Amino acid sequence: MMKFLLLVASWAMLQLSPAASSVLPFVVLHGISDECKHHGITKFTTDLGTMSGAPGYCIEIGNGASDSWFLRLDKQVELACKEIKLIPELAGGYNIVGLSQGNLIGRGLIEWCDGPPVNNMVSLGGPHAGIASLPLCAAYSFCALADIILHMGVYSDFVQNHLAPTGYIKMPKDLSSYYRSCVFLPKLNNELPQNRNATFKHRLSDLNQLVLVKFDKDTVLVPQETAWFGFFPPNDLTKVLPMEETALYKEDWIGLKSLHEQGRIQFVTFSGDHLSISDQEMLDHVAPYLKPEKTRQREEHASIM
Ligand SMILES: *[C@@H]1O[C@H](CO)[C@@H](O)[C@H](O)[C@H]1NC(C)=O
Repeated sequence: MMKFLLLVASWAMLQLSPAASSVLPFVVLHGISDECKHHGITKFTTDLGTMSGAPGYCIEIGNGASDSWFLRLDKQVELACKEIKLIPELAGGYNIVGLSQGNLIGRGLIEWCDGPPVNNMVSLGGPHAGIASLPLCAAYSFCALADIILHMGVYSDFVQNHLAPTGYIKMPKDLSSYYRSCVFLPKLNNELPQNRNATFKHRLSDLNQLVLVKFDKDTVLVPQETAWFGFFPPNDLTKVLPMEETALYKEDWIGLKSLHEQGRIQFVTFSGDHLSISDQEMLDHVAPYLKPEKTRQREEHASIM
């Protein structure tokens, strides 16, 4: 009898314990030119799994490196959404770790994909507010081709349809072309008054934690503050507005202000160039958000709606 009661008691405790049911898996969304099968990203995913105790999945989009360059980002989001829905382990919800361009796909998943709920997003060097140059050339082999295409104009239909990163190039001195012809970021950031969709805002502001990591010597993102949703003011390349001074924030087009006011955005600086990440930085600022302690419980989740 005693033994039976003990059993019942421990069963009940297990049901009540928040940790028992809330180890969420995480997905890694790699940056441009990368692939899930590359050693670096495999190791990154495995290491984060070890540090957090959560299972990790690298989500490949299309054929990997080449599609990361040449497939429109909205199509990449569509493919990622399909893939997420096919992984049964993600059905109860998941966390996102994004690298560079992968963060825009991650945000696309949150805002546009009617898949499982996203709990936390850790963004490492994400070009969230756009970039004001095509800085990708020094490091990448696709650049010769990219260069040729760019001569046709960043906002031409052909380039927008065939060169993914032009979907988030925002030239402060050519904003009218950007609003008219850029196929991706104006939609993701709900920038166009006539096309604003409240669902995107609702879904992003339903995140539990958004961790925005900026690199203090980032030479790829111009400006580097875009990783914190900061950007140049219209028609001015001489200064950068912090997130709180941008219209996107002040008018709360995507729910950032709501998130921020509830203390659910963390701003973190890593030292070094774009995506230079040490094990210690991963341990301190990425892995914690993949643990059950940082997972919002279902009841709470429901009551916030
Ligand atoms: C807003 O976005 C949601 C989710 O993608 C979609 O179902 C809905 O049709 C959109 N609404 C409008 C007015 O476009």
